[in-house]
Amino acid sequence: MRKNLNACYYSDYLQLNKLLDAQAMESEKHGNPAHDEMLFIVTHQAYELWFKQLLHELRSVMALFAGPVLDDNALATVVHRLKRFTAIQKLINDQIGVLETMSPQDFLEFRDYLVPASGFQSVQFKELEILLGLRRTQRTQADRDFFYSRLNDKDRNYLLGLEQQETLSEQLDRWLSRLPLLDFEDFAFWEHYRKGASEMLDSDETIIRTTFDGKERDNQLAELAATRDRFMALFDDSHYQQLLKEGQLNFSHDALMSALFINLYRDEPLFQLPFQLLTTLMEIDELFTAWRYRHVLMVQRMLGSKIGTGGSSGSDYLRRNTEANRLFTDLYAISTYLLPKHALPVLPAKVKKRLGFSLGGE
Ligand code: HEM
Repeated sequence: MRKNLNACYYSDYLQLNKLLDAQAMESEKHGNPAHDEMLFIVTHQAYELWFKQLLHELRSVMALFAGPVLDDNALATVVHRLKRFTAIQKLINDQIGVLETMSPQDFLEFRDYLVPASGFQSVQFKELEILLGLRRTQRTQADRDFFYSRLNDKDRNYLLGLEQQETLSEQLDRWLSRLPLLDFEDFAFWEHYRKGASEMLDSDETIIRTTFDGKERDNQLAELAATRDRFMALFDDSHYQQLLKEGQLNFSHDALMSALFINLYRDEPLFQLPFQLLTTLMEIDELFTAWRYRHVLMVQRMLGSKIGTGGSSGSDYLRRNTEANRLFTDLYAISTYLLPKHALPVLPAKVKKRLGFSLGGE
């Protein structure tokens, strides 16, 4: 028997009448159709659709983090969805190559019709930045100015409201801080760690003193003293607070120590999911940075030193954002504090058991 074709029909389900009717070329409206404007519109629309999916994944992850506990099942879901997030990022980073098949001269055929519209009016892009944890104070002055001055009232108010909400970065800090990795009853882990760090730095000093001399030795010793200082900040609250004030670190002390502990013992089956979470977040940052960088190169190729349609200095403005708008930078700082495996004590069985209960959410 033939099925009722109207029950759920492909084009109705996907609302293709709306979707495929939404490519209105400005150049055509001005009676001067430019062939490549279709590619420009479709590429941007494809980006916005993928931004929608990224926000869908991100909000679901943030809802799981917002709960009182994050048990193993929830953590596995978080990691799975964030990995999907990175798979989408890789795909959209490659889309730039498709748009680059448009020549700079072909872009000139329709560019002036777009003024003053600009990518920095992409609310979904800003939403992603804000929810992931990019702080307003971190943005360059130009980014801060353009951010709100180029948006209409509705978009500006929406994003201002979003800036009041807890971000994924803050949720991560809260989750790491509540892992009981800092208090081990009779197992004085951080004493072992401190001793291991001192021995490693002393050995580095011996190598410098026996290998170099003169100015080179002095420079290396000064670098080593700065590294020693950073290690010691982990055990000195006022020093740590100073690093927070200077913006060198953002995580609370407890969160940083937990993230460090997870990295030090990442081979323990217990820590594999938390470690994957931390590395996936760094991958998200790296893929965002890679996108920004590819976008800058494309902008340079298309515009040279011309200003953008939104009125920024173009590629210079975007290059500065590429450096400033980094996410989860504390996770990179952890590498400063890593010690080789042989310098670490074996975790006693009862400590593992306790951690197992806590990480599992019991
Ligand atoms: C011919 C291709 C493109 C050119 C020449 C271009 C140019 C620019 C320029 C000059 C800016 C700085 C703001 C301004 O003054 O307008 C900008 C910002 C931006 N563009 Fe593009 N763009 C292109 C393609 C894309 C695509 C495909 C996307 C994907 C969504 C995109 C997303 C953005 C975003 C999100 C910003 C804001 C970035 C920030 O403020 O950090 N752009 N673009």
